[in-house]
Amino acid sequence: MTHRGAWNSRWSFVLATTGSAIGLGNIWKLPYMIGVNGGSAFVLIYILSILCVGIPLLMTEIMLGRRVQKNPIDAMKSLAKESSRSNNWKYVGGMGMLTGVMILCFYSVIGGWVLSYISTAVQEGFTGITAEQSSANFGDLLASPLTLLFWHTLFMIITMGVVSRGVTSGLEKANNFLIPALFIILFILLGYSMSVGDMQTSFDFMFKPDFSKISPITALAALGHAFFSLSIGMGSVMVYGSYLKKDVSISRTSIYIAIADTLLGLLVGLAIYALVFANHLDPSEGPGLIFQTLPIAFGQMPWGNFFGILFFILVAFAASTSAISLVEPTIAWIVENTRIGRQKACLGLGLFIWLIGLSVLLSFNVWQDVKLIFGLGIFDTLDKLTSTIMLPFGGLLMAIFAGYFMKKRHSKDELDLTAKTYNLWRMANNIIAPIAICSVFLYLLNIV
Ligand code: PHE
Repeated sequence: MTHRGAWNSRWSFVLATTGSAIGLGNIWKLPYMIGVNGGSAFVLIYILSILCVGIPLLMTEIMLGRRVQKNPIDAMKSLAKESSRSNNWKYVGGMGMLTGVMILCFYSVIGGWVLSYISTAVQEGFTGITAEQSSANFGDLLASPLTLLFWHTLFMIITMGVVSRGVTSGLEKANNFLIPALFIILFILLGYSMSVGDMQTSFDFMFKPDFSKISPITALAALGHAFFSLSIGMGSVMVYGSYLKKDVSISRTSIYIAIADTLLGLLVGLAIYALVFANHLDPSEGPGLIFQTLPIAFGQMPWGNFFGILFFILVAFAASTSAISLVEPTIAWIVENTRIGRQKACLGLGLFIWLIGLSVLLSFNVWQDVKLIFGLGIFDTLDKLTSTIMLPFGGLLMAIFAGYFMKKRHSKDELDLTAKTYNLWRMANNIIAPIAICSVFLYLLNIV
């Protein structure tokens, strides 16, 4: 590993991968997805997906990356070669890289919303804001392509700026304080929600099982979100794993990451829905949910302006550490396979993503009526295609490779588990995860 970075400690890897996992997926996406998909039915399938599919595949992906210490395409190529398998496995890595780039095209626009809320919090604060005003403010933001453009551009500059300096050095420092800080502010928010919000209804909405609401769409959305939230299925974790030293326990690390990620998302959900129900807002509001509800809370709570600023700054940081991991696989591949340097690669890819991002931000206003596939707009198409199809499909292929094509001795060697836990992983990776993913796909196509 001469020209590649390496994490300085086991803790840095854990934090970096947690930083990749924790992002807009937990704070922005999970809360509104719960509301759109019928509350507890979604939460139940989401938690099951994390346990039965997410954690084993997180282990699989870290293992694949660490074994050969390469970017996803080259990693899959070397892994296949090592086990005398077809070179075509490299396309799994390629598809993953494409998925990451596609996700960033809309992720950056939402990251821009967060930045604009920092600016509002600093300049005007949210004091005394009513539910109607808060919704109107968010509506105004969406209706203004130039404002969205400004913040989307800033978000891309920050993200690509960090990536161009090399991921390990910049990220280690940022993550060390970011994740603990996020948890602390979340507990403050939760405490406030508990005191003024309708926590009981929120809890019932999220956790009182209602099997009647389970549908193929709910199942697919929840499974897809488990992939999205853990950052698996596209090679981010593989690349981070490739910077990981050999003395780290993959299983313990994966469990830790999954718990932190899931807990954070569910706690945000509880806090938000307590406010939603107390203020008679619509739980199925969609992507604007947190931007409409949280300002009301910050507007009323003691020290609200301070916490509001802090909260949106932390979310912006969390979003950027995830955004970085979305492009790092592709950047690593370009740098390791062409003569293009890291900085130029970042500039080129950054511009490309920024450009596609423009169509996403226009889809919230002037191109609102443009529909691509299945009657979905530009944002929805990119979001649904990546989270519900490409990530689970990528994860499925990685699981099949690790379980059926990679030499058993290699995975055993790398995972370094007791015989019992190794078999448990193997059962989850080889049987449970593939069956779960395939049945959700088939369920969707109305075949089962
Ligand atoms: N997990 C990140 C989030 O929750 C998003 C992400 C998805 C990052 C896939 C990398 C890969 O915000």
